[in-house]
Amino acid sequence: MNKRAFLGGVASLGVTSVLEPPTWARWAALEPLELAAAEDFWLELRGKYRLDPDYINLENGYYSMMSQPVLEAFVERVREVNYEAARFMRTRADAERLATRKELARVARCPVEELALTRNTTESLDLVIAGQDWQAGDEAVMAEQDYGTMLTMFEQVQRRHGVTCRRVNVPLEPRSDEELVELYASAIGERTRLLMVCHMINITGQILPVAKIATMARSKGVAVMVDGAHAFAHLEFAIPDLGCDYYGASLHKWLGSPLGAGLLWVRKERIAGLWPLLAPPPERAQDDITRLNHLGTHPAHTDLALRAAIEFHEALGAARKEARLRHLQQYWTSRVRGRKGIVLNTPSDPRRSCAIANVGVEGLAPAELARRLFEEQRIYTVAIERAGVRGVRVTPHLFTTEAELDALVAALAALA
Ligand SMILES: Cc1ncc(COP(=O)(O)O)c(C=O)c1O
Repeated sequence: MNKRAFLGGVASLGVTSVLEPPTWARWAALEPLELAAAEDFWLELRGKYRLDPDYINLENGYYSMMSQPVLEAFVERVREVNYEAARFMRTRADAERLATRKELARVARCPVEELALTRNTTESLDLVIAGQDWQAGDEAVMAEQDYGTMLTMFEQVQRRHGVTCRRVNVPLEPRSDEELVELYASAIGERTRLLMVCHMINITGQILPVAKIATMARSKGVAVMVDGAHAFAHLEFAIPDLGCDYYGASLHKWLGSPLGAGLLWVRKERIAGLWPLLAPPPERAQDDITRLNHLGTHPAHTDLALRAAIEFHEALGAARKEARLRHLQQYWTSRVRGRKGIVLNTPSDPRRSCAIANVGVEGLAPAELARRLFEEQRIYTVAIERAGVRGVRVTPHLFTTEAELDALVAALAALA
């Protein structure tokens, strides 16, 4: 048991290295970019996942499966909580949740006092949207390409409080970051209170310059909320460095945690001004972030198992993970970009995307393309037809091989 896990009270996974220590030491000596292309290493890592041999899973953007060590730890935590039952909930649950928050704060590189555990990005961000002291006539800024559940929450706030929502349309191939900053700036008015911006757009994989947009918006007195559903534990960054006010993410996407785990980061001075969705116990201080997500009785074993997912993530390291994920996307997109009949709905500049990309085939509706890829080639993707994007989203993960992407490239070429 390592010291961190011991202090947390939960047995360590023993995943201080992702593979057996001597093998890992050899691979870990490589620079992230070199390791990203070292297929033998990733084939070994693939052994940590239990994959359905019947199809190639390129839809890891919705929920990415836990690795086997994390799954085993999760099952063990379910047994542990079940065994201790009410006694666990009365005597240990709060301390264990705090220990997990501390570990997650280390990954997010933020103070634990600014971080809450939630069930997902929807809960995190809808709480922020609904929790403002809106006045009729206030305005909010967002994009056509933002995620549905946040857009509908803004629509609810519009109906309920008379807030005006302004949507910008994000170009796929901006000439510069400044073009995007200007775009968001152009939608800000006298009464704008809140600006939502996606760190990584889910339908195209486009990464937005959130730090620059946040600097601009905050200079105009507008609070900035970042949708980090796809960016957290995918890209390497520290949440406070983005300069925003609120950040929400799902941990069951790129951290590889059990389903139903998310985070909400709130800049310290913004905590007191938010209304929680569910009223917390009265003794919680106004600036205590746990006031915001009082849940009632909840699956405490998920809180515990999150530590296993964190351990797995840290053993590999965020920089290596990001480098491999970008390598995989570039591997296949570079082989189809510019081909007749194939449309890529993802920026061509490699810095503006990572694992996620979207591709269409001329003359094929997205749903038809997804269906044929699955039924004829056993390649699982998801059809997207929204905000001007027509194609299938392709999302590889750490266990994806170059050979699987070769199969995708061949299938697209044949269909085009
Ligand atoms: C950009 C974005 N925001 C928010 C969400 C919502 O995440 P969740 O369903 O985990 O709450 C998603 C889910 O795919 C997403 O892609």
